[in-house]
Amino acid sequence: MTSPGDRVLVEHPTYPNALDAVRAVHARAVPVALDRTGWDVEALDAALRRSVPALAYLIPDFQNPTGMRMPASTRCEIAALLRRSRTPVVADEPLVDLDLDGGVAPPALAEAVGEPAITIGSASKTFWGGLRIGWLRAPAEMVARLVAARPATDLGCPVFEQLLLAELLDGRDALLAGRLDELRTRRAALLDAVRRHCPNWSVQPPGGGLSLWCELDAPGSSRLAVLAAQHGVRVVPGSRFSAHGGLERRLRLPYALPPDVLIGAGERLALAWAAVGAVPDGRMAADTDAALA
Ligand SMILES: Cc1ncc(COP(=O)(O)O)c(C=O)c1O
Repeated sequence: MTSPGDRVLVEHPTYPNALDAVRAVHARAVPVALDRTGWDVEALDAALRRSVPALAYLIPDFQNPTGMRMPASTRCEIAALLRRSRTPVVADEPLVDLDLDGGVAPPALAEAVGEPAITIGSASKTFWGGLRIGWLRAPAEMVARLVAARPATDLGCPVFEQLLLAELLDGRDALLAGRLDELRTRRAALLDAVRRHCPNWSVQPPGGGLSLWCELDAPGSSRLAVLAAQHGVRVVPGSRFSAHGGLERRLRLPYALPPDVLIGAGERLALAWAAVGAVPDGRMAADTDAALA
């Protein structure tokens, strides 16, 4: 859908592997910042006008990494902008089922946009990350092009997994209810661990999805990721969620693991953060720099 040099509108922050996919086809990401309340329609309008992107890539439902859900009214406004500018959109929705607070689901972005919209979904968040089956919905002409393009990278999904997923989908409602209960407990455990062990960080409970998007009390997310690994916790620094780096005050913490593991991780993260020695104006303790060299 893009040629080298084309622009692709993305959220800032956004899903790192999507940024890599944009880079892999030599397109350029045009980031539009999300603020604390969500999608900035005016900024998106300005980016569409200024950059004339060949494609927009959005995560409207429990956005990765912020966990925010695009409100229905914003969907309509953004859909109108995409239609007016004739910008095809990829709505990436793997987290759509993980609605932990049970709000009224807004209409799908693709429904608001109409054609040409591509929606991507997956079994990995609803059921299990090890089940590597995804799907997409797109206008028929586009599906034909995508099917023709696919064999170069992947000849198809294993049939066994597809049959297993068909079974899971039959029992979806009951399975999902248990999964959501489990995730609510895990979200609460991680929120509690962060608030207790890293009290100077700011964190809002997301309405759904799989992760907290923490605001640190000082820049230092990349160093924290390095030192946390030495304490046995693997985290992805804020900069990975940005097209152009930065976001050093941000850290995404997934709550995909059992509560006792998350609580232990909170303690270890606090130790790692102390070792980073970050101070609010952005300087680091000299000995930490030496340790990282
Ligand atoms: C927004 C988004 N898209 C796609 C994926 C990849 O999903 P899958 O594990 O089904 O490949 C993820 C995984 O975290 C994601 O957050």
